[in-house]
Amino acid sequence: MPCTPTCRKWTVFGFGTFFLVLGVFLVLCWNDVVQLIKNQELNLGNDDTTEYKFWEETPIPMYIEFYLYNWSNYQEVIDSNWTKKPSFYQMGPYTYTEKHIRKDVIFNDNHTLTFKTDRLWHYAPERSSGSLDDQITTVNPILLTVANMVKYKHPIVRIGVNFFLEEKRINLTVTQSAKEFIFEGYEDPMLTLLKKLHLKHIDIPFTKFGWFAARNGSIDYDGTFNMFDGTDDVRKLGRFSSWNYNKSTKYYPGYCGQVNGTSGELWYPVEDDSHVQIFSPDTCRRFNFSNAYSAQDFI
Ligand SMILES: *[C@@H]1O[C@H](CO)[C@@H](O)[C@H](O)[C@H]1NC(C)=O
Ligand SMILES: *[C@@H]1O[C@H](CO)[C@@H](O)[C@H](O)[C@H]1NC(C)=O
Ligand SMILES: *[C@@H]1O[C@H](CO)[C@@H](O)[C@H](O)[C@H]1NC(C)=O
Ligand SMILES: *[C@@H]1O[C@H](CO)[C@@H](O)[C@H](O)[C@H]1NC(C)=O
Ligand SMILES: *[C@@H]1O[C@H](CO)[C@@H](O)[C@H](O)[C@H]1NC(C)=O
Ligand SMILES: *[C@@H]1O[C@H](CO)[C@@H](O)[C@H](O)[C@H]1NC(C)=O
Ligand SMILES: *[C@@H]1O[C@H](CO)[C@@H](O)[C@H](O)[C@H]1NC(C)=O
Ligand SMILES: *[C@@H]1O[C@H](CO)[C@@H](O)[C@H](O)[C@H]1NC(C)=O
Repeated sequence: MPCTPTCRKWTVFGFGTFFLVLGVFLVLCWNDVVQLIKNQELNLGNDDTTEYKFWEETPIPMYIEFYLYNWSNYQEVIDSNWTKKPSFYQMGPYTYTEKHIRKDVIFNDNHTLTFKTDRLWHYAPERSSGSLDDQITTVNPILLTVANMVKYKHPIVRIGVNFFLEEKRINLTVTQSAKEFIFEGYEDPMLTLLKKLHLKHIDIPFTKFGWFAARNGSIDYDGTFNMFDGTDDVRKLGRFSSWNYNKSTKYYPGYCGQVNGTSGELWYPVEDDSHVQIFSPDTCRRFNFSNAYSAQDFI
């Protein structure tokens, strides 16, 4: 049945009134509505909130890019008795997608969560340059680490280490494929020996060396986090309280070693957004980033 002019008028009037009432209601109650949604959804108090679902398994695709440096004129430098300058050629990026899944989540009574993070990486060839089989020659990272460790030790220790290096014919460089340097890892005679010695203060969490070896799919590698869930104060949402049951890391003194700030994935509604605090377990420290833009610029 076609709508008569009167019918049309009433329809328009009806809808108009409805939206007017809704509008007035929203204007008057907007703050309360936002607060209500904020309090119900913007916290990690239980596994039903929207925030929790986003946090438990990060839905945004994340990527990590690795660049490796090939010492392209190694032989020439050695042949010239170090009169030639070493030259390094940038290889990559070797790009991987990164996925974070929270595991062993415990809801504590003190408005915090205790959890671990399972991180999974998959190679993304379409975002990479070169191939994972690229052979790369680089300064032997294990050798450098050992040299750095014994730099100020007693001469007898240094002579001993030197003897070992010559005996085992440890080379200044190592050549491996990109994938071995990144995730697969390669066996290193010095690493094997260091693990066998069981030295105090040296805890090596892998048997093969690779920058990210033994990390893919490991729930324990990143440690245990304690994080505010935002139920008592939404401004605390996502902020770490401790890492491995400690409020500081032993790797950096003072401010840098304090466990504070978010993981960078979950943000509390920042009031002063000129600086943001991030705690990065990869580097065992926190960062204070300054924001070039303020939220005002986007409104
Ligand atoms: C990497 O360096 C090695 C020698 O150090 C050289 O033979 C090789 O051609 C280099 N590869 C690239 C892609 O530059
Ligand atoms: C290499 O250089 C060092 C000092 O720069 C010198 O003592 C040494 O004799 C040189 N070795 C060769 C084989 O030329
Ligand atoms: C909250 O309680 C848990 C479990 O008892 C504890 O590990 C954590 O350190 C506490 N966090 C704070 C901020 O007190
Ligand atoms: C990481 O582990 C997942 C699941 O086991 C696997 O599918 C993926 O290929 C692994 N990634 C790398 C870079 O080895
Ligand atoms: C060092 O390099 C030489 C020559 O390339 C090789 O024969 C030897 O096995 C290497 N040493 C180690 C420990 O890999
Ligand atoms: C926390 O870390 C600091 C710095 O390394 C250390 O002195 C302290 O003993 C640690 N506390 C606990 C409870 O492990
Ligand atoms: C952690 O950061 C918050 C907010 O920036 C601040 O209020 C708190 O004092 C900081 N805690 C430590 C131990 O630095
Ligand atoms: C971060 O750095 C800025 C500038 O250096 C400083 O004003 C601010 O207080 C710092 N924030 C924290 C929490 O230390």
